[in-house]
Amino acid sequence: MTWWERGSIYEIYPRSFQDSDGDGVGDLRGITARLPYVRRLGVDAIWLTPIYESPQADFGYDITDHTAIDPRYGTLADFDALVARAHELDLKVLLDYVPNHTSHEHPWFAERRDFYYWRDEPNNWRAVFGGSAWERVGDEYYLHTYLREQPDLNWRNPEVRAAMLDVLRFWIDRGVDGFRVDAMRQLLKDPEWRDNPPNPDWDGVKEYDSLLPVHSADLDEVQELVAEIRGTIGDRLMVAEVYAPVERLVRYYGERGRGAQLPFNFHLITTPWEPEAIAELVERYEAALPEGGWPNWVLGNHDRGRVASRVGVAQARVAATLLLTLRGTPTLYYGDEIGMTDVPVHRFDPDGRDPERTPMQWTRDGGFTTGEPWLPYGDLGVNVEDDPPILRLYRALLALRRGIEGPYRTLHAGDGVLAYARGEHHAVALNLTGEPRPLPVRGEVLLTTHLDGGGGDRLRADEGVVLRI
Ligand code: NOJ
Repeated sequence: MTWWERGSIYEIYPRSFQDSDGDGVGDLRGITARLPYVRRLGVDAIWLTPIYESPQADFGYDITDHTAIDPRYGTLADFDALVARAHELDLKVLLDYVPNHTSHEHPWFAERRDFYYWRDEPNNWRAVFGGSAWERVGDEYYLHTYLREQPDLNWRNPEVRAAMLDVLRFWIDRGVDGFRVDAMRQLLKDPEWRDNPPNPDWDGVKEYDSLLPVHSADLDEVQELVAEIRGTIGDRLMVAEVYAPVERLVRYYGERGRGAQLPFNFHLITTPWEPEAIAELVERYEAALPEGGWPNWVLGNHDRGRVASRVGVAQARVAATLLLTLRGTPTLYYGDEIGMTDVPVHRFDPDGRDPERTPMQWTRDGGFTTGEPWLPYGDLGVNVEDDPPILRLYRALLALRRGIEGPYRTLHAGDGVLAYARGEHHAVALNLTGEPRPLPVRGEVLLTTHLDGGGGDRLRADEGVVLRI
C-alpha cells in the first residue's frame, strides 16, 4: 500500500492557518510552527492552497509567477524550511497546481497573446463566478472561465504545455510529494467554440448552471492532459479537482499510471444527510471505480460551506466518523476537526466564500495572529486549546482507521440510521438524527462519538459508533 492509500490529507488555507509576523494574514512560517499539531492530529499529508505570487483577486488562484512564493506568505527559503520540517515529522507536502488560468497580471498575458484564447466574437459561455466568460479588450475578447482577472491558458499551444509542465518540475525538485490539480475538467475547450445548450433543470441560483457546460468542460480530450500531467508528476500523488457526476468523475483515474490517483470525490458535500442517500452514493461510487482505482472522500473545502454548518454542530462528530471510516483516502479541511462553523462575513471573496475561510481558532483569544486577523474569528468557545471532544474524536478516529480495512457493505439504511461493515472485522453505525435509535448491529464498541463505552443496544441522539464484529 502507498502512503496515500493508507493515509489522510489535511487541507490548509495558508491565509488563515497561522500568522507569524502580525500582519493578520497567515504565512509559511506560521504553518511550519504548527506542523507538530498536524502530526499529532494523525494525518499523513498537508495540501496547501496556492502560495505563489498573486494579486489575490481569487486568493492565490490568480498567479503572476508560478515559481515564486507570494511575499505575504514568505520566501522560497521559508518554503524549503516548511518542507524539511514536514518531512522530519513524516508528513507529506502537496501543492496546488493551477493550470487552467493565470492572473491577468502575469507577464505572459501582455507578452504572449498566443498563450491565451482570443476571439473576435464571444459565444454564450458563462463564467463560473457569473457574467460572460469573455472579456472585451479593444475589438477582441479573451476567455476567462473564472474571474476576468483569470484569463484561461491555451493548452493546445505546445509552448504553454511545456512551460506549465516545467512548473511541476520546479516544485518536484524542491521536494514536494504531490499536487492537487485545480479545475482539471476545464483544461480544454471545444475547438469550434460552440454555444453551450440551456440546462433544463436549472434551479435559478447560479448563472453558470443555466447552461450545460458540454463544450467548455470535461471534453474527452482532457484525459490526454490528465495523462501528460500525471506523466510529469510520476509516482508522486496527483489529486484532481473534478466536480462531476460519479460516472464521469471516475474517468479521471485514467488507465493505470496515466490518470490521477485521487480524482476528488466531493459527492458527500451535496448528498442529502440521510442514510438512504448516503448508502446509495457510496454503493454507486464503489461500483463505478475502475479496477485498481482507490476511493477518496471529502466533507469540506475552501469553496463550500463548513460541514458543521451544513449538517449541524450536533452531527459534526457523526460526519467525522463517516469520513474516517469509509473505504478510501479522506481529505480534512482545517478547522473542521474542532467543529468550526461558517462565520457570516462577506468582505472579500467575489464568490461569497469568506465564511468557510476564517482564521483557525487555536486559543480562547484566537491565537492566529498578534495583529488584526484578515477575516474575523468565529465563536472562540471553539478552539484547539480546550482540546474539545470533537478534536479528541478526530485523533482517535485517525488512529483507529489505520486498522480498519476491507470492502464496504451496507448493513442498514433507514429510520435515520446508516450502518455498514468494513471487511470482516469492523462495523460502523451512525445515528443521523437527534433522537435515540436501535443499534442495528452487534459487536464490541471500539469508539463512539460520545467518547465513552457506548449506549448499550441503542444509538443515542447524534451518536456514531465503531464496532468490532
Ligand atoms: C477551484 C478552487 O478551489 C477555487 O478556490 C478557485 O476559485 C477556482 N478553482 C479557480 O481557480
